[in-house]
Amino acid sequence: MDDSDPPTKGATRRRFLSGVAGLSGAAFTDASSLAGDPKNLPPNVPEWTRVLGDGVAVRPYGHPSKHEAQVIRRDVLWLTASRESSVSFTPLHELDGIITPSGLCFERHHSGIAEIDPEDYRLILHGLVEKELIFTLADLKRFPRQNHIYFLECAANSGMEWRGAQLNGCQYTHGMVHCVEYTGVPLRVLLAEAGVRPSAKWLLAEGADSAAMSRSIPLAKALDDCLVAYRMNGEMLRPEQGYPARLVVPGWEGNVWVKWLRRLKLGDQPWFAREETSKYTDLMADGTARRFTFVMDAKSVITSPSPQAPVRAKGFMVISGLAWSGRGKIRRVDVSLDGGRNWREARLDGLVLDKACVRFYAETEWSGGELLLQSRAIDETGYVQPTKAELRKIRGVNSIYHNNGIQTWLVKSDGEVENVEVS
Ligand code: MTE
Ligand code: CO
Repeated sequence: MDDSDPPTKGATRRRFLSGVAGLSGAAFTDASSLAGDPKNLPPNVPEWTRVLGDGVAVRPYGHPSKHEAQVIRRDVLWLTASRESSVSFTPLHELDGIITPSGLCFERHHSGIAEIDPEDYRLILHGLVEKELIFTLADLKRFPRQNHIYFLECAANSGMEWRGAQLNGCQYTHGMVHCVEYTGVPLRVLLAEAGVRPSAKWLLAEGADSAAMSRSIPLAKALDDCLVAYRMNGEMLRPEQGYPARLVVPGWEGNVWVKWLRRLKLGDQPWFAREETSKYTDLMADGTARRFTFVMDAKSVITSPSPQAPVRAKGFMVISGLAWSGRGKIRRVDVSLDGGRNWREARLDGLVLDKACVRFYAETEWSGGELLLQSRAIDETGYVQPTKAELRKIRGVNSIYHNNGIQTWLVKSDGEVENVEVS
């Protein structure tokens, strides 16, 4: 699938099962039944063993293997009018664990990527402060710093699915989420340096991109766990993620994580900026709009099998997925094979962190019958991820944002997977 091939339902190319024999239950595969060039297969010495490989630093900055060229961010051209105000999606179906590789993190820009010279970078902190401050990047790096792994989910993730199953692939239905490690200064440290006046209640964060994208954030959140981050996954932020500094607002909708951060202003009320009035509000069934719905509720998705990751063989099968909650830790994830009639507890694997993605697995045997795969996340507050029907009962279908309903994948008898809904 490429950009010119919009991934709507029914438009997926048919793929054939490889018909691999020895995979059912057994750990090893009969090599003779696999595709591959016989001259590279045992007992022959493969071609790559016969030649000297590239030396060190031939690739001074590493790239994935050329055989993984399909593992890329993708966009959907018909979704937005221009690429400058658009979104690309994380290839969740190709990833494992919880950390998103930096080059695969989805991007959401309102007016393209600002290219900032770090020498000219300044962050101003003003408004209801005792003393106005301007930080250089070097200044930010001299403050005490912290490292945290957090998910970032765009409020518009799954936004195309309100009126029914539409996009065929978890990259498109759920790929506006990433989870990386950030390094930065706690925002409260910078605020303390400036001195917060007692009348301050809100913080305006503004970006240096040509949209000057800005959002109002309650002071209590700013003083809690926000960071001004300059690194992700150890290295400096990528330009598309806000180089050289962005706001990290754990658990809250991605829109408030202002990139290319240039201004912080304290005030006594919200600014009612474009992105918190005209956009990023939730139009309810009765026509009223909910504002300032910051927290991302618990959500999960099965990343494999999924439409872009069909089932290739009968027998032992690992169901794999991600879960996250803006309210804290994920406590449990359940998986259903029959569209939500029966549930079994999935295994949470690896780190289970506050406001971060969690990897879950459910192992099963697939005999070739149809499955209706679902996952359901439960967080430490006891909140249970709702079905789409439950969500629509409260929200109607006019919304774009905050769709955390349970996703269903239909696994067909030929192993192809389709985005469907069960009633
Ligand atoms: N900050 C600025 N300055 N400009 C933007 O367009 N987009 C926001 C937010 N911060 C945006 C921004 C939105 S809607 C989201 S979802 C996140 O950045 C996306 O972050 P990412 O591109 O690192 O995935
Ligand atoms: Co967003």
